[in-house]
Amino acid sequence: MTSQIRRIAICTGGGDAPGLNAVIRSVVIAAANRGWECYGIRDGFNGILFSERYADGGVFRLTRERVRGIGHLGGTMLGTTNKGNPLHFPTRMPDGSTREIDRSNEILEFFAKKEFDALVSVGGDGSLTIADALHKKGLRVVGVPKTIDNDLDKTVTTFGFDTAVEFATECLDRLHSTAESHQRVMVVEVMGRYAGWIALHSGIAGNAHSILMPEIPFDLDKVVEQIRARDADGRMYSVVLVAEGAVPKNGHQELLEQAGVGHAERLGGIGEQVAKELQERTGKEARVVVLGHLLRGGSPTSFDRLAAMRFGAAAVRALDLGMSGVMVALAFPNVNYVPLEEVAGRMKGVPMDSDTLQTARDLGICLGD
Ligand code: F6P
Repeated sequence: MTSQIRRIAICTGGGDAPGLNAVIRSVVIAAANRGWECYGIRDGFNGILFSERYADGGVFRLTRERVRGIGHLGGTMLGTTNKGNPLHFPTRMPDGSTREIDRSNEILEFFAKKEFDALVSVGGDGSLTIADALHKKGLRVVGVPKTIDNDLDKTVTTFGFDTAVEFATECLDRLHSTAESHQRVMVVEVMGRYAGWIALHSGIAGNAHSILMPEIPFDLDKVVEQIRARDADGRMYSVVLVAEGAVPKNGHQELLEQAGVGHAERLGGIGEQVAKELQERTGKEARVVVLGHLLRGGSPTSFDRLAAMRFGAAAVRALDLGMSGVMVALAFPNVNYVPLEEVAGRMKGVPMDSDTLQTARDLGICLGD
């Protein structure tokens, strides 16, 4: 099959995740080895939608030289944004109000003008939904699943997740000794949006005593009981891991910011809440540590680096085979391809029958239920 590709473009969208630069490098090299040119779009699609604001027009050539030595670096050399969804672009209206409008046709026009034959879109559910819409409008697109949250469907894992879990685990290891020395309750809040993957995996690996996650509405009494039982047993400290999206039974999700035009709500604050209540109810000193964006920074683990490079190369192979409208997915031991429309807008939480969840229960970790 001849793909008839000469030029492709790549963009990274949504929150950054360790491994983005490894994907970019992989795509560029795999494309160059086929004789294709590769271009990077700056800041999600802003490089196209606000092309005139960039000295280089918002899109620049990615050569082998340009991506040399970036595979181990955190962040994304292209820049990213989670506020520039071209399907719902926040736009100031003449009457002063702000409305979301669909600017996706401008992307198609830009691709036609620049003679770009295909797009590799690296992102989470937002970016993959955009990729699906662009594919349905006729653009040749392959998606690559990225997010530290691991909440994308149809792939065993996303790159970025392992690095986040690794770091959270190291933090938990460090917090045990200080919690024990002071006989305190240490509450640790981790990211993950509406899924508890980061909390569950790092919580088990880092020996948290309680793990509260969005999939299981929690009853704080259970955590209090567990802290008291540990105290009675002479283990005078406890580590409680709380996912930012965890919700108390009959309660609500804590938000740092409500959703607005062009941006989603920002989760956070539940750790503080839990620490305050545990201190009041147990009489023990409680402290809270919010790991937040630290989980998104730094160098990708070798697992994430390899996954990212496999995804990047597989995306180029897919284009070479004439595919479009698919996402590269990890389906151990290999990668495969799944239709973007089966992924777009679908969140994958921790399944209740997961053996990892069962492992937590078998180890006596309190899940708040
Ligand atoms: O989706 C990745 C993520 O880090 C979530 O875990 C978190 O809720 C969100 O992004 C934070 O976004 P921002 O960087 O816009 O605050």
